[in-house]
Amino acid sequence: MEKQTSFSETVTLNNGVTMPLLGLGTFHLRGLQDVTQSVDAALACGYRLFDTASVYRNEEELGHALHQLLPLHGLTRSDIFITSKLSPADLGKGAREACLRSLERLGCEYLDLYLIHWPGRQGWKSDDARNAKARQEAWKSMEDLYEARYIRAVGVSNYTETHLAELLTTCRVWPAVLQVEFHPWLPQKSLLNWCRENGVSLQAYSSLGCGDLLNKEEVKKVAKAHRKTTSQVLLRWALKQGVGVIPKSADPSRIKSNFDVWDFDLSEEDMQELSGDGKEHRYCWNPKGVA
Ligand SMILES: NC(=O)c1ccc[n+]([C@@H]2O[C@H](COP(=O)([O-])OP(=O)(O)OC[C@H]3O[C@@H](n4cnc5c(N)ncnc54)[C@H](OP(=O)(O)O)[C@@H]3O)[C@@H](O)[C@H]2O)c1
Repeated sequence: MEKQTSFSETVTLNNGVTMPLLGLGTFHLRGLQDVTQSVDAALACGYRLFDTASVYRNEEELGHALHQLLPLHGLTRSDIFITSKLSPADLGKGAREACLRSLERLGCEYLDLYLIHWPGRQGWKSDDARNAKARQEAWKSMEDLYEARYIRAVGVSNYTETHLAELLTTCRVWPAVLQVEFHPWLPQKSLLNWCRENGVSLQAYSSLGCGDLLNKEEVKKVAKAHRKTTSQVLLRWALKQGVGVIPKSADPSRIKSNFDVWDFDLSEEDMQELSGDGKEHRYCWNPKGVA
């Protein structure tokens, strides 16, 4: 087995829980063999955070892979950080049961982080006013699960500042993490400031623009200057702002290379070079219209 070479930097969440700043994304990672191969490669080079969701339909495989691999890497459950997310189909009163089902599929007694995946309920129109009530009901269930120690931290994903402001007026437990699409072509400056002001840790998804940003000339230029890959530069761009990243790869050598981001920094000129064209480019869904 390959020897682990480095560790992820961490962030302390607003409830004192420590979260690695770099983890493995698992969207589109399916099948026990592929999941096991990716998780094995990730654990070997130092990944300790795994990001899944009910809708990815891989919780069971991830649970099996971790169960099998952790002892082989000399690790236990408490050495790793597992995030899962509430399916939009369960937004509302079904949140408690949905979370317990995720735990069962993962074969875990607790989750390190549980997120509301999307601010609207599946099957309802975005502008359906019932979405707000469903969010509130789901959050209440998550607070109960948090207090009962099924979840070590609670958070949300794809929330806009409007959704977040609404949550803060009703919550008992403050959200610890906001997971959103975040990369140089969608720098989310206002949302990042909101998170800093309100003690919420921002975590980026689609840092590589689902692969599309890897061939942008600006990224290539900065990568060449640092003798790094374009992927490493895109991940460093977020990490430099204190934002966590969860790149997905099914390829062991890319998984390893995506973790090799701790030995270089980007200058202000590099950040400027990477600042995109001023327009917002989304590779994933846009939550702006969700009531
Ligand atoms: N909360 C949400 O709504 C939400 C939405 C989207 C994603 N996410 C989470 O965020 C994670 C990451 O986002 P993402 O999967 O959308 O996209 P991403 O991480 O930006 O990009 C993944 C793509 O880039 C390729 N790739 C990865 N590393 C590479 C490298 N070093 N060189 C070349 N290609 C590379 C991968 O292909 P290979 O696998 O072939 O390497 C894959 O096609 C997801 O897996 C998921 O866990 C959350």
